[in-house]
Amino acid sequence: MLSSVLSDEELEELMLELEELSDDPIVRSLLAFYVKRSPQYEIPEKPLAPDMVYYMISNELKLDGNPALNLASFVTTEMDENADKLFMENAGKNFIDQDEYPYSNWIQDRVINILARLYHAPVELEPVGTSAIGSSEAILLGLLAHKWNWRKKREAERKPVDKPNIIFGEDVHVVWKKFARYFDVEPRILPMGHDKFVLDVDMVRENLDENTICVGTVLGTTFTGETDPIEEINQMLEEVKEEKGWDIPIHVDAASGGFVVPFIFPDVKWDFQLSHVKTINVSGHKYGLVYPGIGFLLFQDKADLPDDLIFEVNYLGGVMPTYNLNFSKGASTVITQYFNLLNLGREGYEGLMHVLMLNTNYLSNLMEKSGKFKILNKESKVLPLVAFELDDKVPFDVFTLSDRMRQKGWIIPAYTLPKNAEDRAIMRIVIRLTLSREQINILYNDLMDACESIERDIDSVLREIDKEEKLELSKKFHDSIC
Ligand SMILES: Cc1ncc(COP(=O)(O)O)c(C=O)c1O
Repeated sequence: MLSSVLSDEELEELMLELEELSDDPIVRSLLAFYVKRSPQYEIPEKPLAPDMVYYMISNELKLDGNPALNLASFVTTEMDENADKLFMENAGKNFIDQDEYPYSNWIQDRVINILARLYHAPVELEPVGTSAIGSSEAILLGLLAHKWNWRKKREAERKPVDKPNIIFGEDVHVVWKKFARYFDVEPRILPMGHDKFVLDVDMVRENLDENTICVGTVLGTTFTGETDPIEEINQMLEEVKEEKGWDIPIHVDAASGGFVVPFIFPDVKWDFQLSHVKTINVSGHKYGLVYPGIGFLLFQDKADLPDDLIFEVNYLGGVMPTYNLNFSKGASTVITQYFNLLNLGREGYEGLMHVLMLNTNYLSNLMEKSGKFKILNKESKVLPLVAFELDDKVPFDVFTLSDRMRQKGWIIPAYTLPKNAEDRAIMRIVIRLTLSREQINILYNDLMDACESIERDIDSVLREIDKEEKLELSKKFHDSIC
């Protein structure tokens, strides 16, 4: 054995010399895998065998978290194999090349039409929309349109346009704050209550003025999965319009809720049925059940999308209207969103969302009965997720529990709530389609085991402290009698 006669350094040197000498990509690949670090900065001088490169990279990526156990994310991790086939067949199409790939773009139009109907766009209007990389891009585009519309209206009235503001709650995703900063709009961020984690209608009213470009609301918040009182805010905005003449639109961030609520809570009014809801975003890659990254932005009516935000591009052949922040993106996500809509249909989505909600309630009931957890979204659930705190008598915090669950492979985030409730630390389990009832039982057992093992650790530390204190006392006693 070479390794028994050479030191590690000598062995490494020998391998590197061998690599220099060998022109065989397999030998070089083996050496690259076993002896060298993967290239970190420089492109390798010589090629490596593709099988070996694949193996090296996929082997390293196995160290990533397991997406099936990632209960932090809403994002789809598995699709039907026919959807996978379509995804790969179209992976090389750049969606922006509308002239070369018109059918991909027509498919987008059909998805937009279907979503607009699902969200009750009035038939006498002309709903339009666009696909985006995710809800984040869709939200930025929607809010930009509101800023433009507000400015146009103010300019027509010969009023100042230097102080636009936007109102939303602390319950929003970070992209709302990005919009305010990147696009120079004053954010009026309304605090949550200590026990109420969505917008307060009166507080929204107090903060409105003639410079408010839009009120932002969320259907299924990132923090607790609850929903802002969208219908009540709409009613209040109707009154304000009547009293003061301010016609302030609502944007609904339905990133997660947009593919859940229409199917299992059809009576909840949150969409274009409400007079002030002018724009809606939804993430296809969440409960739309498509791989990342796809989102959609919908306008209730073409008139709400300002013409001067649409760019006509002619350098790919033909003239293409675009309303996006980025340019190139893959066509596969748009196409597979269409696949899901056709394949599942209304009944399919309804069935799946009901099943997710059943399993969510099953887990949340088990957890509540254990006496160790307080469920935060028991009454107000519109998304299949369990948001919870630890019971007051539990002697450790959610961050410790999150760490302990990570050791078992489960990824369950722990975080503090925003302003006014920042002293409350919670955890969130997102129930996705990959999680079977059996896995939910395993998850629950792992949660209980994790709690017990942390309690055992605390006990043993306390016993150790106790022992040290007793030793100290007995030493003092011994010293005093000697
Ligand atoms: C309510 C809400 N809005 C926006 C986003 C951002 O969505 P995306 O990841 O699709 O860009 C999220 C992501 O979780 C979200 O929960």
